[in-house]
Amino acid sequence: MILIVGASGCLGSAVSRRLLARRLPVRVASRRPASLAGLRACGAEVRLLDLAREDMLTPACEGVTTVFAAAHALLGRGAHRSEVVDRDGHLALIEAARAAGVRRFVYTSVLRASPDHPVDFWRTKSLVEQALKSSGMEFTILRPSAFMDIHAHRLIGRAILTGRRVQLMGPGTKRRNFVAVDDVAGFAIRAITGDELTGRALDIGGPENHSSLEVASVYGELSGRPVRVSRLPTWLLRTLAPVCASLHPGLARLFAMHALADEAFDETFDPTALLAEFPGRLTTLREFVGAQVVRAPTH
Ligand SMILES: NC(=O)c1ccc[n+]([C@@H]2O[C@H](COP(=O)([O-])OP(=O)(O)OC[C@H]3O[C@@H](n4cnc5c(N)ncnc54)[C@H](OP(=O)(O)O)[C@@H]3O)[C@@H](O)[C@H]2O)c1
Repeated sequence: MILIVGASGCLGSAVSRRLLARRLPVRVASRRPASLAGLRACGAEVRLLDLAREDMLTPACEGVTTVFAAAHALLGRGAHRSEVVDRDGHLALIEAARAAGVRRFVYTSVLRASPDHPVDFWRTKSLVEQALKSSGMEFTILRPSAFMDIHAHRLIGRAILTGRRVQLMGPGTKRRNFVAVDDVAGFAIRAITGDELTGRALDIGGPENHSSLEVASVYGELSGRPVRVSRLPTWLLRTLAPVCASLHPGLARLFAMHALADEAFDETFDPTALLAEFPGRLTTLREFVGAQVVRAPTH
């Protein structure tokens, strides 16, 4: 049995669908099991799971051979703030999996996770990576860059395709790497079902780096729709971050991240080594946007 934590999310659902298509036994978990009806219809066992609830972790791991962890609470607050879910919840999940006899644990971290990263979320990912490495279980750590499906489409392109104004945080000129979730899911499937990635931490990114303004302009060009952009200035993000820190730490983190100087927080990726080791195609931004444009409503 393969347990997917974060099965309602962008990556978790893509990986769940691929495993189910191979007719593998899959247990999908979420705080909102009703959101997993589609995966249930494809044959998945559905489980209520909240990483903030330690008592739910051991039962979820019973009879499981492999855990795929694809949950996060970057924007969480209160009982579901990042420290509770991303740090304590994941450390407890690793321990519950080990104690339940899980053989393999595949963890989704993030590109450039490190103990001295300027953003706490990246430090947390690094801490969990270390705990997994010393757990004794077979492990793979996936370290993807920003998902096109979220950071290019949901946060930029969708507004353009539906005639709304794009709201950017900061000037929108910082170059970042974007990777298609489908490409990340391909590596996750290799890690879950094969042995070639066991014991590895793999940096994963798309073929190019782009700024948010470039992403917006590709959407405009390929859809033929006007691009209207508003920007929250960096000084305002810097002011807002400490103001909302106690009320909404997730939002404060987002403001602080976007207020950081480009050089403080490199988000680019060079795919040369990845492509040399895994020859094949990585989805380009234009290919990805082209597919979104075809799917977009015409009125
Ligand atoms: N998005 C990116 O650009 C990006 C880039 C690099 C790495 N990653 C990593 O890739 C993984 C997947 O990200 P994603 O963007 O696909 O996620 P997503 O679409 O934002 O979905 C988040 C998932 O986390 C689950 N979750 C949140 N809090 C939870 C809790 N307390 N207990 C159990 N589940 C909880 C949610 O499930 P419910 O709400 O249904 O409970 C949901 O399935 C994450 O580890 C993320 O850090 C993402």
